[in-house]
Amino acid sequence: MKILALLNEKGGAGKSTCAINIACALHRDGRRVVLIDADPQGTARDWREASPPEANLPPVVALDRPDMLLSAIKTLAADIAVIDTPAKAEKMAANVVRIADVVLIPLQPSGADVWASAAAVKLIQGKRDLGGNVEAAFLATRVSSNTKLSKEILSGAWNEYGLDMLDTAISNRVSYAQALTDGVSVYETRDGQAKAEIDLIVNELETAGWL
Ligand SMILES: Nc1ncnc2c1ncn2[C@@H]1O[C@H](COP(=O)(O)OP(=O)(O)O)[C@@H](O)[C@H]1O
Ligand SMILES: [Mg+2]
Repeated sequence: MKILALLNEKGGAGKSTCAINIACALHRDGRRVVLIDADPQGTARDWREASPPEANLPPVVALDRPDMLLSAIKTLAADIAVIDTPAKAEKMAANVVRIADVVLIPLQPSGADVWASAAAVKLIQGKRDLGGNVEAAFLATRVSSNTKLSKEILSGAWNEYGLDMLDTAISNRVSYAQALTDGVSVYETRDGQAKAEIDLIVNELETAGWL
């Protein structure tokens, strides 16, 4: 089983939105996906409870205690576990990086998000320094337009921390917020551009051999 985690200690960075939509895309591709809600706030659980009964969406499993996550994840029968993580939770973040094969760090084009990502980058480097394997990249989110400022901020993060950035960015779109509220993914909306973004992200991860 491959473990993909969305990590950034900042609240509102887009972790849950990315985790949900990527998990749904993989599920639609026929992979056996479990979406793990590691956040005591329970966004992914609330999302799934809001889903229409007939919706074809991946199951959500709550594992929001750091030690239980380590022992229970091994028991899941899935091809891919996508972990939605909490903000400001050092022990959980450390355990998530310990078990993750791939970590994506959602990053909005603002200085605050770039600074907040330092903790996640440090955990990834720490695992690698100890000989552990983990693929990692930034994922630009809520990008309003291809402005010079957002390019500067995002490439600043890339330069400073030496982590890759996925080529595809997630735009700021009402459909992401609407889908979350309705308990579905952007695939259940009419927003073709949002679907195309998530498709491209999954494609990048698969092409890189990460998933
Ligand atoms: N690409 C996006 N476009 C529009 N709204 C977004 C986007 N990504 C996230 N949001 C909204 O921003 C808020 C925070 O996102 P969320 O995924 O819950 O962040 P986190 O899990 O990191 O706290 C939510 O209300 C969500 O609907
Ligand atoms: Mg969240």
